[in-house]
Amino acid sequence: MILVAGSANLDFITRVPHLPRPGETVLGPAFTTAPGGKGANQAVACARTAHPTRFFGALGDDPYAAPLRESLRASGVQDTSLTLDAPTGAAFITVADSGENVIAVASGANALLTPQQRPDFTDVTHLILQLELPLVTVQAYARSAREQGVTVVLNAAPAPTSPLPAELLANVDVLVVNEGELTTLTGAGDLPEQLHAAQALGPGTVIVTLGRAGSVAVHGGQRIEVAAHPVTVRDTTGAGDTFVGVLTGALGAGLSLSQAMREANVAASLACTREGAQPGMPTRHELGRALAQGGVGAGL
Ligand code: RIB
Ligand code: NA
Repeated sequence: MILVAGSANLDFITRVPHLPRPGETVLGPAFTTAPGGKGANQAVACARTAHPTRFFGALGDDPYAAPLRESLRASGVQDTSLTLDAPTGAAFITVADSGENVIAVASGANALLTPQQRPDFTDVTHLILQLELPLVTVQAYARSAREQGVTVVLNAAPAPTSPLPAELLANVDVLVVNEGELTTLTGAGDLPEQLHAAQALGPGTVIVTLGRAGSVAVHGGQRIEVAAHPVTVRDTTGAGDTFVGVLTGALGAGLSLSQAMREANVAASLACTREGAQPGMPTRHELGRALAQGGVGAGL
């Protein structure tokens, strides 16, 4: 069983021709809503690709919680999240026609989850964490997991504003970051230097997602590179979450790190071709078909 402890947000999405600059107003057609939040997204990605998944987080006592719970349930996630006396998390996402986005998150209930409000670790082999919950809570969950022999996967997203506590990184087995997040954690340098520096902080495995350039990992003394799968990008929202959820599900199912990275890369590419975070995530059937075709789309 994979346990994801993290955020759940209702995403309010506006498509515009280009991202507004500070002070600028850009007109788009009509807003849409979709279930999101990095934690819930990763749980959905993992469960849709057919791995038993439990989610633990905090939702509000308002009408926005229901579609989030419904998406978890419909994707096969065991939802153990709490209802708190607070607004449900909301993310205001602007997506340009290029597929790029900017996101402002109003954390609401997510910000109230304390280290004392513990997830159920029964039958859990892997815990996935991100940085949309309070840092003390993330730190406490990583510590509990480590004590119980559970493999800890940290997706250090969104990029932390200050260096992460040494104790947290010491309890992480697999760190997944994009290039910007890696630079925040390790400082400047070329990619091999940064990977080495991140590994020195504790995680035995460090994976960097490089968008159109695929992903690279260091795993002990080994280096693994997985090529990208070129697709027509419509919306990158949730692509990183798809990568993390599918990667961890595949590791939980016993795949090697390079096989798991390949599945995660292809799944993230599929997610980029569709609108919205959770609505864009592939099922096991869709992922299997894309993998059998050697990737996604032409030229793979
Ligand atoms: O990673 C994408 C997610 O980030 C969105 O679903 C949004 O809710 C924000 O948390
Ligand atoms: Na998407």
